[in-house]
Amino acid sequence: MTTLLTTEDVARITQTLGLPEVFKRLVGYLEADYLRWNEFDKCARVASHTEDGVIELMPIADASLYSFKYVNGHPKNTRVGLPTVMAVGLLADVATGRPELVSELTLTTALRTAATSAMVARKLARKNAKSMALIGNGAQSEFQALAFHYLLGISEIRLFDIDTAATAKLLSHLQGLPGLTLKVCASTAEAVRGADIVTTVTADKTNATIITPDMIEPGMHINGVGGDCPGKTEMHRGVLEAAKVFVEFEPQSRIEGDLQQMPAEFEVTEFWRVLKGLSSGRDSAEQITFFDSVGFALEDFSALRLLRDCARELGLGQDVSLIPQMANPKDLFGQLGLAHASSTLRAA
Ligand SMILES: NC(=O)c1ccc[n+]([C@@H]2O[C@H](COP(=O)([O-])OP(=O)(O)OC[C@H]3O[C@@H](n4cnc5c(N)ncnc54)[C@H](O)[C@@H]3O)[C@@H](O)[C@H]2O)c1
Repeated sequence: MTTLLTTEDVARITQTLGLPEVFKRLVGYLEADYLRWNEFDKCARVASHTEDGVIELMPIADASLYSFKYVNGHPKNTRVGLPTVMAVGLLADVATGRPELVSELTLTTALRTAATSAMVARKLARKNAKSMALIGNGAQSEFQALAFHYLLGISEIRLFDIDTAATAKLLSHLQGLPGLTLKVCASTAEAVRGADIVTTVTADKTNATIITPDMIEPGMHINGVGGDCPGKTEMHRGVLEAAKVFVEFEPQSRIEGDLQQMPAEFEVTEFWRVLKGLSSGRDSAEQITFFDSVGFALEDFSALRLLRDCARELGLGQDVSLIPQMANPKDLFGQLGLAHASSTLRAA
């Protein structure tokens, strides 16, 4: 049997364990997998583009587990009552190919993206970082805010979105949280001024310039989440020129990240090397660091492993018959349950 996890199951995991614990465990799984970087069979995701969006498949495997995520990105979806990003995923046993787990990954993508951003910022942001600008207050935004609050101790978040209703929605969820001050700003420039960390998580299928070089200050860490597709960027190229740039998987980031604006020889560092101690991260308190996040299959692999383990621990999920259960594995035809196959076929 294959275990099926629904959005309700994933919500139950966060309700039972608490969001701080889920983020903590996710970062543990992410770091464990990023440290095993060379054990994975990796490729850039397979993307199918249309004018308004993209649908992507994200496969990855190590010697024992294979996973893939199906995910879309359609920034105009919210106008027709659908999320910009929706996802499902699968975890399978490499030895036999048997699918072990099929899971919702829409909530999980928000959780893993925020956990990844926080994992990276813990290594790259200045140690005394306390404030963050959060530009784009849509579906992913509370997850980003809370991951940085719980995992980095960010205590002040400055909000800006061109849609004031999105900011109001964020406030309705997070206002009053002990130890977290939220400030609504009138522009990106106002939100960014003086911030230790800048997170951009906007959705617009265009080469936007959310952050321009005049906005950045020495020592800032920029966590760019929304520039993740050809023709969909958030940074003015001068921001990348001014920063030390870190990526997940370079071949994919060169196609999809804000990095797509830069020449092929523009220098970047894959984050796993920093985690493993093979490359330096931030070199000085004044340096500007930029994480050009696009979302890599390894992060979904880690998240699916965590979901599988949490489901076992908490007794969640439903066993579903997605693959035939056969006493004789060669008797697939028998699974059709036709009482008298020969007469049925003759009748047809
Ligand atoms: N890097 C990753 O791993 C990863 C993972 C998930 C989502 N994403 C990306 O993150 C982005 C946000 O996703 P979401 O699910 O929150 O989308 P969403 O549509 O729910 O929210 C996006 C918000 O951005 C705001 N926005 C658009 N243009 C803006 C601008 N110029 N200034 C300020 N705000 C602006 C919109 O009003 C909206 O509220 C998307 O681009 C998505 O593709 C990246």
